[in-house]
Amino acid sequence: MNIPDHILSKVDENLHNKKKHPIETVKKIIYDCFPDFSRFDDISPKVAVRSNFDDLLIPKNHVSRSLSDTYYVSDDVVLRTHTSAHQTEMLKNGEYSFLVAGDCYRRDEIDSCHYPVFHQIEGVRVVESVVDIESDLKSNIELVIGSLFGDCQFRMRSHKFPFTQPSWEVDVFYNGNWLEVLGCGIVHYKIMKSCGLEGSSAWAFGMGLDRLAMILFDIPDIRLMWSSDERFIGQFDGSIKKFKPFSKYPPCNKDISMWLGDSFCENSMNDIIRGMSGDLVESVSLQDTFTKDGKTSNCYRVVYRSMDRSFTNEEVNNMHISCVELIKSKIDCVVRE
Ligand code: PHE
Repeated sequence: MNIPDHILSKVDENLHNKKKHPIETVKKIIYDCFPDFSRFDDISPKVAVRSNFDDLLIPKNHVSRSLSDTYYVSDDVVLRTHTSAHQTEMLKNGEYSFLVAGDCYRRDEIDSCHYPVFHQIEGVRVVESVVDIESDLKSNIELVIGSLFGDCQFRMRSHKFPFTQPSWEVDVFYNGNWLEVLGCGIVHYKIMKSCGLEGSSAWAFGMGLDRLAMILFDIPDIRLMWSSDERFIGQFDGSIKKFKPFSKYPPCNKDISMWLGDSFCENSMNDIIRGMSGDLVESVSLQDTFTKDGKTSNCYRVVYRSMDRSFTNEEVNNMHISCVELIKSKIDCVVRE
């Protein structure tokens, strides 16, 4: 429905299962924190809308369900937007302590730490006694953070997820900054009930693997994760190692200004640019916006830069012209020449 080919082609990549890849290494460190949990890491990312949203009590009108945020395979199948999509199915199948790792998909902005495909790991544990569930969650979070970051400060900030209550986001103090690393909480009683577990309680956490790998390995651009260049992939041996950058090629900036139509969708424009440039786009950022006679004009800066080669002016110009042509024909806007 709204899934471009360059996204569909990622469905079989499974970076989280690729030996010695930084994302796989991070996954394994987390696996090792939970030796007696069942592990699932080859479940298809094509999931029912019900599993991804309804079963998790995500309201019908929640923005995350919209075509501008989520990739729809059909009216009732999406590319999962988080590994929580497997929570209820697992619980119903009688899994009481499990980890699910997998590729997740969200339409999003373009910059060095966002990519429409990313990886998450979910951990869930059902306990009989309700009394100490929060402290059990906290000590397990502490364990995961300790294995990833060593001895460092972390904080649990109260947060809201529709499927957990209470919920927290967890930040780690690393290299002088607070970094958000995971979301967690106590599984909502309505979900426990729908899985036939009303007598028990459960905690759950979900964390993104790509950004963790970027931080721990000093990887400056998320597109590198998808590189098969030996200068990247050949640097890793299954343990945490600082990435040694190979030369960065010069960027090339192109601006595009447009009057926006009523159904203008920025993420659709981003998909067109990403698809057309085959990952040569480094970022798309709004430079300027103004409204005149009730019409809004946006100017975007598109930065093109290859991770592994330099390119000619002509090549970038042609690519940009093709992007603009496709935007003109597919996006509700009038490009200002
Ligand atoms: N699924 C949530 C996300 O993607 C994370 C989460 C998992 C939160 C489990 C609470 C419990 O942001």
